[in-house]
Amino acid sequence: MPAKIINGEIIARQIRKDIARSIQIRLSEGKRIPGLAVVLVGSDPASRIYVTRKRSVCEEVGFFSYLYDLSINTTQVQLLDLIQKLNQDATIDGILVQLPLPSDIDPMLITESISPIKDVDGFNSYNIGRLCKRSPSVLRPCTSRGIITLLERYHINICSLHAVIVGASNIVGRPMSMELLLSGCTTTITHRFTKNLECFVSQADLLIVAVGKPRFIPGYWIKYGAIVVDVGINRLTNGKIVGDVDFDQAFYRASWITPVPGGVGPMTIATLMQNTLYACEINEKITL
Ligand code: GUN
Repeated sequence: MPAKIINGEIIARQIRKDIARSIQIRLSEGKRIPGLAVVLVGSDPASRIYVTRKRSVCEEVGFFSYLYDLSINTTQVQLLDLIQKLNQDATIDGILVQLPLPSDIDPMLITESISPIKDVDGFNSYNIGRLCKRSPSVLRPCTSRGIITLLERYHINICSLHAVIVGASNIVGRPMSMELLLSGCTTTITHRFTKNLECFVSQADLLIVAVGKPRFIPGYWIKYGAIVVDVGINRLTNGKIVGDVDFDQAFYRASWITPVPGGVGPMTIATLMQNTLYACEINEKITL
């Protein structure tokens, strides 16, 4: 039987609508509009597309967004100075520095310099630490949080499943492992040094793939009935966008599968909007 599609675009649209409604309510109560600062360094074409999309969703839900479009020659000190300014600016609720950064800027140092209460990417050690400790109020990394939301909205119960993550990045794989642990999964993280990847993938009840390599996981590796979540967004030379999983083959083995495009991608941005609204609410409590 073919898999059922987990449509991230539909769920993300519902979330965006809910946020837009919250903003209308905030306005009627005389409250402030949330503001997101988006920092782009250099001109990586993929990053530019993502940043443009994030800003256009800000506009759709009714947030202010401020773009800091910095040259490739920006130094680490200049970027740190800008972040310090944004940390102190009361009209800015969230700060997002698009990754990857140019090679002479240390992404670790940059993510650590963002105030934890404005860290809408959830990459700061404070927020990652709170996620690890199961603290209830925390800004959580958007992609992994968005995937959990997506599964919840489809009423897919993942408690007790064997979840296998392919890819151990700071942006997706590592926070995903914590989210899955919180959801009651038995979790395996695989990465570039894993031997016999097929052996792990074929045992997954829930497979999450985030490696950024087109059709990296062949469909025949996938266990019949598995839930497959594909985080990859890869553009082929013919312009077609594909995921990290060979969708056409996986479709006939999985029970549920996310498409690319229209799966995880829109959820990442919708979650960024939820985080920005949440950061604004925290910010208000502090400045009261
Ligand atoms: N680059 C790829 N994904 C992300 C993300 O979620 N946030 C940021 N800041 N950069 C990214």
